[in-house]
Amino acid sequence: KSLAIFVSGGGSNFRAIHEATLDGSIQGDVVVLVTSKEGCGGAQYARDKGIPAVLFPSWGLSPNDIVTTLRRLKVDFILLAGYLKLIPIELVQAYPRCILNIHPSLLPAFGGKGYYGLKVHKAVIASGARYSGPTVHFVNENYDEGCILAQRVVPVMASDTADELAARVLHEEHHLYVEVVAALCEDRIIWRADGVPLIQSRE
Ligand code: GRF
Repeated sequence: KSLAIFVSGGGSNFRAIHEATLDGSIQGDVVVLVTSKEGCGGAQYARDKGIPAVLFPSWGLSPNDIVTTLRRLKVDFILLAGYLKLIPIELVQAYPRCILNIHPSLLPAFGGKGYYGLKVHKAVIASGARYSGPTVHFVNENYDEGCILAQRVVPVMASDTADELAARVLHEEHHLYVEVVAALCEDRIIWRADGVPLIQSRE
């Protein structure tokens, strides 16, 4: 399968997924990086690895242009990994059930506009929640609202700073996202009649 990855930041999830495509744990290829921030860590990693990169949003490139670009590259799935811009409706409609995002909290808690980066972890700690963890979900036209596909639980320690909690969650993100994308590329996602997606284990 051909994968497009969207990043705005450090790109550690991008890297985990790319490495998994190289060692065969994901049966897919990262064919393009889409970034909203030219100089970000994810964009640098793409340059080092020779993965073509597209700046979006950018002047003169409409949502339909990006759809055309992805179609020309025969992209099957779009994976958001720390991409901070809202995905245009044109893209959501062009790739139904084919766009995933990873979010660093147990959605629907601590999600939506305004909950990104360390703000998520600060809010979790301030709430007194004893558990947090990443969520992988399908993407619709609203931030952090599409169907939940997979989650991992990590403990919140009484002494945690936002940075410490973020690091614990990020470590789990890398494993979770790779597992989910492996399932996606092996057609192991099934949709329950009520519209909830489930991951089938390998036979
Ligand atoms: C992760 O915490 C992810 O959940 C969130 O943005 C962060 C991206 O980290 N959406 P990285 O750029 O993959 O290191």
